[in-house]
Amino acid sequence: MFASFPFRTAKKILFGTGTIDQVGTELKGVGATKTVIITDRTIREAGWADKIQAVLKESGISSTIWDEAQAEPSVEIGEQAIAFAREGGFDSVVGLGGGSAIDIAKAAAVSLKNQGTIMGWIKDGFTNPLAPLALCPTTAGTGSEVSDTAVFATPELKVGLVSSMLYPDVAIVDPTLTSSMPATVTANTGIDALCHAIEGYQSKQANPLTDALALESMRLVDKYLRAAYCNGGDMEAREGMALASLLAGIVMGNADTTIGHACGYAFVYPATKLHYPHGYAIAITLPYVMEYNAIAQLEKHANIAEVLGENIDGLSLRDAAFLAPVAFKKLLLDLDLPMSLRSVDVEKDMIQMLARNVLKSPNHCRRNPREVTEDGMITLFEHAYEGKLASEM
Ligand SMILES: [Fe+2]
Repeated sequence: MFASFPFRTAKKILFGTGTIDQVGTELKGVGATKTVIITDRTIREAGWADKIQAVLKESGISSTIWDEAQAEPSVEIGEQAIAFAREGGFDSVVGLGGGSAIDIAKAAAVSLKNQGTIMGWIKDGFTNPLAPLALCPTTAGTGSEVSDTAVFATPELKVGLVSSMLYPDVAIVDPTLTSSMPATVTANTGIDALCHAIEGYQSKQANPLTDALALESMRLVDKYLRAAYCNGGDMEAREGMALASLLAGIVMGNADTTIGHACGYAFVYPATKLHYPHGYAIAITLPYVMEYNAIAQLEKHANIAEVLGENIDGLSLRDAAFLAPVAFKKLLLDLDLPMSLRSVDVEKDMIQMLARNVLKSPNHCRRNPREVTEDGMITLFEHAYEGKLASEM
């Protein structure tokens, strides 16, 4: 007997090369006449914001570009975008960029229909549906265009604005927009997509729909991420990764993540003074999260190993399951990503604090398939510190 489950995503998804040309007709269809395009300077300099402005104009929509988005956006930056959107009299929003620009765009779309501030909405929620919103990712990894969350940083911690109203009217996933990503960003964001797929597959909130999407996302990452990393002009690889990221984003929007993301958050700013890109930080500890969780889900971890290219023929379920982190480490190696916490300036005497930081993320712990204990997290971080699985010690 199957358990009942909900499934949510963006109201509409347009995927494929050239779909960005439809942003005007899509927004016009939901009543937009004057749009603010939320992006960052790099994306603007690559010409994508101007391109969208031209497409909107063809549909009779006037627009203005706000290009102050920054990685790991602070609440302050979000409030600056909100002030710009409100004062400009806009009736709709385009989010164009990586997860940061897209998360800021969600908050801006909230602000055009609701009084209040980001911290107020996080604490008390908001009541009115968003202004018309189109989200157009320029990286292949965050999946924010199909999630119900917008993440901001305060000086003390990261905070998430979460609401089923945060889904956009349309998510436009055009792989062309990812073609200007440098190799390091391709690796950092692509590995984040894989973490979303794996953690969503592990999650206690997973369901048959998210499981199917997660396995297909992992298959696409295994097939295309190395190629996209070493040859950014390989458009088949870019398309494959854009699709992988979209699928993983849908998974994350429903099943969410496990302690994989909590372990990454545990050692970077604002939990410590260490600053690393999001996917890069999460990926370092993910092999050890899989090692920790494998015995709780032998069959699922054996499936991960197989879809990531390991030969599990003739192996016991247990031995096959423990190949999942081995496969993941091979990908880290190929993408020139760090293999241990010691290599990214984590000190050994920080381990107990990192273990406690994970326990401060009750929702990640609640969704994790294996009970999360301080001792368990200490062992996990000891392995991650050395960059060695138990089988490699
Ligand atoms: Fe992530």
